[in-house]
Amino acid sequence: MTAKLIDGKTIAEAVRREAAEETAALKARTGQAPTLAAVLVGENPASQTYVASKGKACEEAGMGSITHRLPATTSQAELEELVRQLNADPAVNGILVQLPLPKGLNEQAVLDLISLSKDVDGFHPMNIGQLVMKGRIPQFIPCTPAGCIELLVRSGITIAGKDAVVVGRSNIVGVPVAALLQNADATVTVCHSRTKDLPDKVRRADIVVAAIGRPEFVRGDWLKPGATVIDVGINRIADATRKSGSRLVGDVAFDEAVEVAGAITPVPGGVGPMTIAMLLTNTVRAFKLQHGLA
Ligand code: GUN
Repeated sequence: MTAKLIDGKTIAEAVRREAAEETAALKARTGQAPTLAAVLVGENPASQTYVASKGKACEEAGMGSITHRLPATTSQAELEELVRQLNADPAVNGILVQLPLPKGLNEQAVLDLISLSKDVDGFHPMNIGQLVMKGRIPQFIPCTPAGCIELLVRSGITIAGKDAVVVGRSNIVGVPVAALLQNADATVTVCHSRTKDLPDKVRRADIVVAAIGRPEFVRGDWLKPGATVIDVGINRIADATRKSGSRLVGDVAFDEAVEVAGAITPVPGGVGPMTIAMLLTNTVRAFKLQHGLA
């Protein structure tokens, strides 16, 4: 069997087009465009690429984009002062502090400070808390987990009643994606580095979300035939056959998994493009909340 490919690039384009259409309508109505302020501290090359892509995507959707680039030597007080300024600036609708922050900076304190109505990353503990509590609705859902769900929904894959296994328990992906799957009525098992009999747990899943940050960690023979596989991993590994000397792989051994799964996201071109698309959606939502239009 060869799995159906879940085309994140095409689905992300559709989400971005919808955000651009809403932006145009909001501009016509209010004279203002939803605007994202991104904060990048230090010189992590992956973070630099992500932040540049986020800014470009905002501009392509007709949205405003402001990027604050701060040196790695920035103090906690300076970073917190910038977040306070952005919180108070009515021209800024969404605030994104790119993670990870350089060593020595207190990530939790910075995330706690971001205004709830501008928390387009959905990382404020109040937003995460509401996400995991029954009957509560968060203002914002973290972008990568929201993108995973959007891929399933737009591919016509039913979540309700399914057994889902999430491999990884990070605050950015594992924890929120497990909450979202549970809220959509899946029965969810969260696995991690200390889980025993991991392949057996994964083999029970109708839906597998791999977000452990280890290249090609989930093997094809761990999968139930016909399972849906959402691969959140983006890992660069050496490959002497490539001109660049390296290539990107996910957290799933794709060549094996594609023979067993029913549907699977490729890397690149699966979950990756969805993160930015959902960020645009969240920024439009922030604008609408702040203008009483939500
Ligand atoms: N680092 C990795 N993913 C993300 C994300 O979605 N948002 C932010 N702010 N930092 C990240």
